[in-house]
Amino acid sequence: MLLVTGGLGYIGSHFAVVALQAGYEVLVLDNLSNSHANVKEKVEKITQKSLDFIEGDIRDEELLDDIFKQYSIEAVIHFAGLKAVAESVAKPLLYYDNNVSGSLSLLKAMQNNKVNKIIFSSSATVYGEPKYLPYDEQHPTNPINPYGYTKLHVEHMLRDICTADNAFAAITLRYFNPIGAHPSGLIGENPKDIPNNLMPYLIKVANSELPYLQVFGDDYETRDGTGERDYINVMDLVEGHLSAINYLVNAGFHVFNLGTGKGTTVLELVSAFETANNIVIEKKIKSRREGDLAKFWAKADLAKKELHWEATTSLLDSCRIVQ
Ligand code: NAD
Ligand code: UD1
Repeated sequence: MLLVTGGLGYIGSHFAVVALQAGYEVLVLDNLSNSHANVKEKVEKITQKSLDFIEGDIRDEELLDDIFKQYSIEAVIHFAGLKAVAESVAKPLLYYDNNVSGSLSLLKAMQNNKVNKIIFSSSATVYGEPKYLPYDEQHPTNPINPYGYTKLHVEHMLRDICTADNAFAAITLRYFNPIGAHPSGLIGENPKDIPNNLMPYLIKVANSELPYLQVFGDDYETRDGTGERDYINVMDLVEGHLSAINYLVNAGFHVFNLGTGKGTTVLELVSAFETANNIVIEKKIKSRREGDLAKFWAKADLAKKELHWEATTSLLDSCRIVQ
């Protein structure tokens, strides 16, 4: 059985779907701080399989200990975390507590119960200001905000455990910009507040819940002056985790970028979104958003070579809203 922390969230729920479909038993631990309990039924509806769910917090070491004693967990897929950059700047201790202390509790409970395989959701944000592009896994890490530091701290804890225990296997997956949703339309990215990220914002504009898109800056050194990112379809992303599970037979600490290897600017994404959904998006050029990098995308070759995985969904398909 897999223990999936944060498994009712955006990426975790998509992972739960593909994992159940691949024949794994899945136990989700989620405190519902950024998700809804009804996602469990939605995942079950899509897969026609049952999903075990415990409402609880990864900082609750006693609970984790009970879980590892009660269930036979072969590996942990660790999605649980807070992810809003601006909030992490305003409330750094909340982020260190949830993301770093939470991961520490999880790792301690794993160690106490001799569970020694984990896949961790990290982010391209750990690289910081690009020294060169595309970012490969060797690129120096230099986060520019507390959220990024929490991800890097957890990476370091995993690296150090693997050094101390040569039976431990830890895979850090550095996600680029996940977008899209399961083709059923039942699950997806559904932020409770006004979205910070481009794609969920676009969807709210398309649904007339927000009046227009603010394009944060058109004076960057990119093809059209707008910010450039590597948008990866969420189904492709979670398939990458299935490949990574097989790779956990290799003890040690491993890092892989999960991206497409291709950059897309804000205006290019808007244009693909308009074509995919046959609509026009109102947009206004605004000043740059504080803390934004001009451009970055992944070198995705290592995951292809080692995990035998690559992103295959087209940008147009990723932009299609499923009703
Ligand atoms: P999400 O907020 O939709 O999902 C995270 C889930 O974890 C939520 O269901 C939340 O309730 C749960 N959670 C948070 N803190 C918890 C705690 N202390 N105990 C138990 N459950 C807790 O986010 P997501 O987009 O699905 O992201 C999943 C992971 O991937 C996060 O670690 C995030 O930092 C990382 N990541 C996300 C992106 C992205 O753009 N979505 C990019 C890079 C990395
Ligand atoms: C943000 C986070 C990053 C995180 C990533 C997850 C910041 C500073 N960084 O990255 O740490 O890993 O999400 O996907 O928040 N844009 C607009 N209008 C909008 C929203 C965004 O023009 O309303 C632009 C941004 O300026 C950027 C691009 O769209 O150029 C993508 O933005 P976003 O989706 O927020 O992702 P990142 O900034 O890459």
